[in-house]
Amino acid sequence: MLLAKNSTPFLQKLQRQVMSFLYRNDLQKLLPLYSSKWNPHLFGQHYQEHFAPLRNKNLKILEIGIGGYDEPYSGGDSLRMWKQYFPNSMIYGMDIVDKKVLEEDRIKIFQGSQDDEIFLNKVVAETGKFDIIIDDGSHRNDHVIKTFKILFPELNHGGIYRRYTYILYTKLRELVKVLQG
Ligand SMILES: C[S@@+](CC[C@H](N)C(=O)[O-])C[C@H]1O[C@@H](n2cnc3c(N)ncnc32)[C@H](O)[C@@H]1O
Repeated sequence: MLLAKNSTPFLQKLQRQVMSFLYRNDLQKLLPLYSSKWNPHLFGQHYQEHFAPLRNKNLKILEIGIGGYDEPYSGGDSLRMWKQYFPNSMIYGMDIVDKKVLEEDRIKIFQGSQDDEIFLNKVVAETGKFDIIIDDGSHRNDHVIKTFKILFPELNHGGIYRRYTYILYTKLRELVKVLQG
């Protein structure tokens, strides 16, 4: 079923809410509802495979990069998608731009840069360890590596760390050593 593009914004929103509820346990169908950038064939089946067994657990999920860039009211689609898909989890978002206006029940937002170690440590001190971390922030290699070094040890055992194109598991702790040189 496709979203009706010619209907009013209110009806489109309503339709998306209904479809999002109906597809709440299928990431391949949820992904295109929340963002056109996601390729459901590319990501959906992998997400579904790795996340489906965790779906109903009480998890702490962090996404770095909320979307919308400099516009404080814009972005948050992926946070809302995770909230829909993981009904018992807490969703944390982090962005260099202040996006706190996008907070809602089970979605908490922090403002800071993913390469700021003091900021990241403050976040972890407040939230505790995470079960899933998704890095979709600056996409800068130096940031990605620094963030990984700081946050990978803050995953619970069995947790999942996803860089935009990779999924890394806590089993691969030796990767941290490689990155540390
Ligand atoms: C690609 S968008 C995220 C899209 C979102 N994850 C989604 O799927 O809808 C990247 C976001 O990262 C944020 N960002 C850029 N540099 C950052 C940094 N150093 N630390 C944290 N967030 C950053 C931008 O403001 C932007 O909102």
